[in-house]
Amino acid sequence: MSPIETVDLLVTGARQLVTLRGEGEPSPRAGRGMSELGIIRDGAFAAKDGRIVRVGSTEEVSRQVRLAPGGEAVDASGRVVTPGFVDAHTHAVFEGSRPQEFEARLQGSSYQEIAAQGGGIRSSVRAFRAATTEQLKETALERLDRMLELGSTTVEIKSGYGLSLDDELRALEVARELDGAHPVDVIPTFLGAHEIPEEFASRRDEYVALVAEEMVPEVSRRELALFCDVFCEEGVFTVEESERVLVSAKRHGLGLKIHAEEFTRSGGAALAARLGATSAEHLLEVNEDDIAAMREAGVVAVLLPGVSFSLGLSKYAPARTMIEMGLPVALATDCNPGSSMTESMQMIVTLACVEMRMTAAEALAASTSNAAFAVGLGMECGSLEAGKRADALVLNMEDYRELPYHYGVSNVQHVIKNGRLVVRSGLRVRS
Ligand code: NIG
Ligand code: FE
Repeated sequence: MSPIETVDLLVTGARQLVTLRGEGEPSPRAGRGMSELGIIRDGAFAAKDGRIVRVGSTEEVSRQVRLAPGGEAVDASGRVVTPGFVDAHTHAVFEGSRPQEFEARLQGSSYQEIAAQGGGIRSSVRAFRAATTEQLKETALERLDRMLELGSTTVEIKSGYGLSLDDELRALEVARELDGAHPVDVIPTFLGAHEIPEEFASRRDEYVALVAEEMVPEVSRRELALFCDVFCEEGVFTVEESERVLVSAKRHGLGLKIHAEEFTRSGGAALAARLGATSAEHLLEVNEDDIAAMREAGVVAVLLPGVSFSLGLSKYAPARTMIEMGLPVALATDCNPGSSMTESMQMIVTLACVEMRMTAAEALAASTSNAAFAVGLGMECGSLEAGKRADALVLNMEDYRELPYHYGVSNVQHVIKNGRLVVRSGLRVRS
């Protein structure tokens, strides 16, 4: 018998404790594995110093642990408990909003036409450059509060609205400060190759060189990012330009991500496979060769159905084919002012099910465990297992399948981050 352990958080009575525990291999889930949620009925877990120490039935865990004086007891009776969402793709450090573009699209303009007329990313670059660092931090903190209240406990954030050395460093410094100042864990990604800035419009080669030869080394030297991303797309960066940036990033020790095949099939997915990227994102226009190449190279597909929805596109990424072919799928909001203005992973789960025909189980695995692998944290979070960060949600439902079904509201009752109750009854707890 192992001795009784003193813990500082004890969650008991979950009607369904959705653990997503792994079966051996520390790798993302693929194929049928995406439907295996490892549900424990009348489940419980206990945490100490921010990490999970016991997971099992309420009866087992209650026997194995003792709650320290002042510890937190969470009664999850009759409810569903899941890992916290990992939002694996956002552009959450930005200033201003672009509702006029949303309206223009409803009247028939396309995302690319608006961008070509000086709107789009470039308009958010103007707003970013005009904002003070304090302002940027303040609006991003409010955004992170909303994300946390909606159940995201880890959030990847890309730079990419600065597009000069100083402004890109500023974006990543803000991301780092957010990580320290907010319970959500922030994963910083450098996306200097998000767009060609106005001042380089006629000198694109120079801008690519600036990103690859100056920005990447400086970001790496200052340890401001874990990943480097590129918007590889017709009219933005070509495959050759994307490769130049990503090869430099790899040489400087950054993990690789790529915005690929969003509007056109331009070769970004194959590039991700060739360079061994951690993830490729969007992927509306991939074909089966791309899917097979990514699968063989161990690339995670990060799908962003909020973009198709918000842009009013009828096309979504082929999630079913990906799952059938064994490519691990993750989901994310893509929270940004242009193509997906939402903080809600719950909404994304609904869209993934309705529009991409994922099951509730697959969508849940894609938003937690697989999303954690997509940001390099597969061994740290995304499942309820001993040793992992105690990041969990108590959902206001009896069956996890209510998650996509009950939409347009928040189903999150409590949020636990690193073993602490940070959202209680839907509201942020400030300590
Ligand atoms: O992921 N695709 C490129 N970047 C964002 C859009 C950013 C913006 O429009 O501001 C995206 O969709
Ligand atoms: Fe994006």
